[in-house]
Amino acid sequence: METSRYRGAGKASADPSLNGALPADRLGRHLHDLRISVTDRCNFRCVYCMPKEVFGPGFRFLPKEEILTFEEILRLTRVFVCLGVEKARITGGEPLLRRNLETLVRMLSGIPGIGDLTMTTNASLLPGRAHALRDAGLRRITVSLDALDDDVFRAMSSVEVPVRRVLDGIRDAEAAGLVPVKVNMVVKRGVNEDQILKMAEYFRGTGHILRFIEFMDVGNSNGWRMDEVVSAREIRDHVAARWPLEPVEANYRGEVADRYRYADGGGEIGIIGSVTLPFCGDCNRARLTADGEFFTCLFAGKGHSLRSLLRDNRSDDEIAEHVRGIWAGRRDRYSELRSEATVALPRVEMSRIGG
Ligand code: GTP
Ligand code: 5AD
Ligand code: SF4
Ligand code: SF4
Repeated sequence: METSRYRGAGKASADPSLNGALPADRLGRHLHDLRISVTDRCNFRCVYCMPKEVFGPGFRFLPKEEILTFEEILRLTRVFVCLGVEKARITGGEPLLRRNLETLVRMLSGIPGIGDLTMTTNASLLPGRAHALRDAGLRRITVSLDALDDDVFRAMSSVEVPVRRVLDGIRDAEAAGLVPVKVNMVVKRGVNEDQILKMAEYFRGTGHILRFIEFMDVGNSNGWRMDEVVSAREIRDHVAARWPLEPVEANYRGEVADRYRYADGGGEIGIIGSVTLPFCGDCNRARLTADGEFFTCLFAGKGHSLRSLLRDNRSDDEIAEHVRGIWAGRRDRYSELRSEATVALPRVEMSRIGG
């Protein structure tokens, strides 16, 4: 039953006043992307995200009753779509650990107004599931992969999963039509820099888009130090010295990766310089954690609980008003303000907020 004008509406809303009400934040930025974390758990322990010393056997993950049900995620996503979201990304932790994820994908893909539905995964659980995800309505996929050599991959991910398994996941995604596959490689100095050219060579000519990501100070667990960041410029120069690169225009305003194409026609790469080349000015992303906290910045110290509103039987209109108010007051620009002082502030962990 439709309980409010927000139900099932979206950009195609029959109520023109809704579209006029899309909120701009205090820095003039409009909401466009929603990143939905479906679990805070992961089967990897990447050193830059969930270091095993912190996320060990005693770590307290979210208990089941605190995690949003698929119906709750659907309801919140519809509200966000009414507020301007056109693109949704499913994240984790590792989203494929969430049982029956295909069901959620089917539910979200049915929302009118979502033009792009994608997912970020480590792909270790993808082999054999890509077709079902595609059939459920997933459009694309982004795979995290930091190395091609098993020993370096193990040093980054702290698990015994062979690289081959991730590559099989990418192959299955391609076969299922989840293309182009984007491959995220976080670069950490002294650990996997030697994989930059190997990864570039491997993915050149495949149609997949490799994106190098600067190691970021997300959360408070990864022991981040500036001298472990390999800068976007360094990465670009390193690749370009081997295969000349040409810059490419952004696909859309707010795109986080700077795009380049190989001059010889080998395809495209991206470089995400969120430390040395911050892109807060165009930041249009909202983030929802698995327990229903709404975050307006990847580096925020605290979120705003939407689960409490849902479970308090508040209407969609009330939830939308609440979100609108938070977004309207948003001033986040952490990466632009990063300093010795900000690094000491409490920040949400990457595995909770989903990247
Ligand atoms: P597509 O354009 O759909 O491919 O999405 P995307 O570029 O947002 O890709 P993705 O979600 O894979 O983002 C890549 C990585 O960039 C994330 O995992 C983060 O590490 C980083 N990133 C994304 N959004 C932000 C952001 O708002 N702030 C910062 N600092 N980093 C971000
Ligand atoms: N710095 C940069 N990227 C990170 N990711 C996770 N933690 C960090 C970090 N500290 C990336 C992952 C994944 C995405 C969700 O975020 O590699 O691709
Ligand atoms: Fe898991 Fe992705 Fe974090 Fe690695 S980066 S620990 S794969 S959620
Ligand atoms: Fe957006 Fe915060 Fe990232 Fe800046 S640091 S781009 S405001 S999420």
